[in-house]
Amino acid sequence: MDYLAPSVLSADFSTLGNEIAIVAAAGAEVIHLDVMDGSFVPNLSFGAPVISSVRKVTAALFDVHLMIQEPIRYLEDFKNAGADIITVHYEACKNVEETLAKILSLGVRAGLAVSPDTPTDVIEPYIETIDMVLIMSVYPGFGGQTFIENSLDKIKSVREMADSLGRKDMWIEVDGGIDYGNIAKVKTAGANVFVAGSAVFKGNPSVNVKKLRALL
Ligand code: DX5
Ligand code: ZN
Repeated sequence: MDYLAPSVLSADFSTLGNEIAIVAAAGAEVIHLDVMDGSFVPNLSFGAPVISSVRKVTAALFDVHLMIQEPIRYLEDFKNAGADIITVHYEACKNVEETLAKILSLGVRAGLAVSPDTPTDVIEPYIETIDMVLIMSVYPGFGGQTFIENSLDKIKSVREMADSLGRKDMWIEVDGGIDYGNIAKVKTAGANVFVAGSAVFKGNPSVNVKKLRALL
C-alpha cells in the first residue's frame, strides 16, 4: 500500500491543526512532522508540545521525523505526544541499536533515516527489527529543496535489501523535493511512503493531496 505523508513544515503554523485536518480529510493517511534542533540540522522547528496539541484533530498516523542529536533523550516525550512512528537519523545516534530498541519498547513503530551522503549499507544491521527506512532525497533541514536524483538508486537498493532479508512488508519513505513530476518514479524505484511539503501546502492543500495521490 502507498501512503502520502504531507510534511507540515510547509503548512501555515497559525492554523496548523486546521491544515492537518484538511490534508487528512483529503486522503493523506500519514502526517509527517519534522522536528529540528538547530544542531543536527541548521534549523529549528517544533517539539513534542506542538505535536501533542495537534494530535486531537485527526486519527491519521503521526510520523515523527527527528532531526535531532541523540534522539534517545526524547523518545518518551514523542510517544506521549502521540507519535505512531518515530524515525531517527543514523548519523545522529551514538548507539543506533539501543535507540531503535527503545522506540520499539515504547510500542511505537521505528524508522531509521539516512541523509544523502550516507550509504544505504549502514542500514543492513538494523533492517530486520525496524518498520521503516527513510531515504532523505534532500539535505535535511529545510523544505522546498530539489530532489537529489541518485536517491532513486538508494531506494532501489534498500528495497532489494529488505526483500532479500524477507522483509517485504518494509515501509520505505522518501523525503525531500517530491512533486508531481517525480512521485511516480520514486514509487517505481520501490518507495511506498511519500513525504511532500511544498507540493502539498503551496496552493490548495486539499486539491494537491488528491492530485498527488492520484499519481500513486
Ligand atoms: C526536510 C524535511 C522534509 C521537508 C520536505 O528536512 O525532512 O520533510 O519538509 O519538504 P519538501 O517536500 O518541500 O521538500
Ligand atoms: Zn522530514
